[in-house]
Amino acid sequence: MNLPIRPRRNRRTPAIRSLVRENVLSAADFILPMFLHEDAVNTPIASMPGVTRWSLDGLVKEAGEAHALGVPAVVLFPKIGEHLKTPLAEECANDYGLVPRAIRALKAAYPTLCVITDVALDPYNSDGHDGVVRRDDKGELHILNDETVEILCQQALCHARAGADIVSPSDMMDGRIAALRSALDAAGFQQVSILSYSAKYASAFYGPFRGALDSAPKEGDKKTYQMDPGNAREAIREVLLDEAEGADMVMVKPAGPYLDIICRVRESTTLPVAAYQVSGEYLMIESAAAAGWVDAKAIALESLMGIKRAGADMILTYYAKRAAEWLK
Ligand code: PBG
Repeated sequence: MNLPIRPRRNRRTPAIRSLVRENVLSAADFILPMFLHEDAVNTPIASMPGVTRWSLDGLVKEAGEAHALGVPAVVLFPKIGEHLKTPLAEECANDYGLVPRAIRALKAAYPTLCVITDVALDPYNSDGHDGVVRRDDKGELHILNDETVEILCQQALCHARAGADIVSPSDMMDGRIAALRSALDAAGFQQVSILSYSAKYASAFYGPFRGALDSAPKEGDKKTYQMDPGNAREAIREVLLDEAEGADMVMVKPAGPYLDIICRVRESTTLPVAAYQVSGEYLMIESAAAAGWVDAKAIALESLMGIKRAGADMILTYYAKRAAEWLK
C-alpha cells in the first residue's frame, strides 16, 4: 500500500510508546480507603474479599506500608459499635472516638501522610442514613437537610482538631460546603481542605461497602439526596455550587460506570477532580479474577488508567497499595 501516514509507527517499540503516552498512572495518584474498628484484631471483610477492617495498630502499619510505596493519602471509614449509634449521631463529633484517635495515631507516625476523613452520619446514625431522619404523620421518612449540616460541621471540626488534612463530605446535603468552610475558618482551621463528593450517585455499586460497615439504611434508600444515575448536567450543577461554596477539590463517584461525568466535570472546573472506584467496581474485578476469568493486575490497572484518562487527578481505590506495588 502507498500509505505515507502510518499511526502504528508511534507504537513500534516500548521506547517510542513511552514517549507518546498521554497519561501515566503513578502511586502518587492514589488515595487508599481504609476501614477500621475498635477491635484489637484485623478482620477480613466478608463482603469485600482482599479488604481488611483494621485495628488501630493494624491501620497505622498498613497505612505506613502504602505510604512507603508512594501512596500520598488515606481516607478513613469507621465501623462504629451498634451501642454508639443514635438518631442524632452524636458519636461522630466525639474527640475520643475511633476516627479522631486514628487521625492522631497516623499523623504522629507519618507526618507526611495526608489523612482524609469521611464526613457523613451513616456510620453513626441508628437509621443508617447520611443525615438525620424524621418520620412524618403519614409515616414517611425525611432526611433533614439543614439539621444534618449543623451536625456535619461538628463532625468536621472534630476531625480538624485531631489533625485531619482534608475533610471529605460524602453526605450530599445542600449547602454543606459553605457551612463547613465557615465553621472550619471560624475555628482557625483555614488550612484544612475540603474534598467534596460533589457528584455522588445513588448507586448499587456501594453494596459491598455497606456490608463492610454494617451501614446500610434500615429503611428507605438514599435517592432523595444522592444523584439519579440518569443525570449528567446535574453533576455540573453540583460541582459549580461546591466550587462557589469553597470546595478545594471535587469528586465523582462511582468512577468506572461514570467516566462521562468525570470527563464533563474535568471540562467544567479548574479544581482538582477526584474519582472513587467504589466497592462494587472493585468486587467485580476481584470476583472475576478469583474465578480465573481475568487477570486482576491487568484489569485493575487498565480500569484505573481509564479513570485517569477520563480526567481524574486522583483516584480513591481499594487497589491503591497493590497498584503502587505493581507500578514499581
Ligand atoms: C457513605 C459512603 C458510602 C461510600 C463512601 N461513603 C456509601 C453510601 O453512600 O451508601 C461508598 C464507597 C464504596 O462503595 O466503596 N457516606
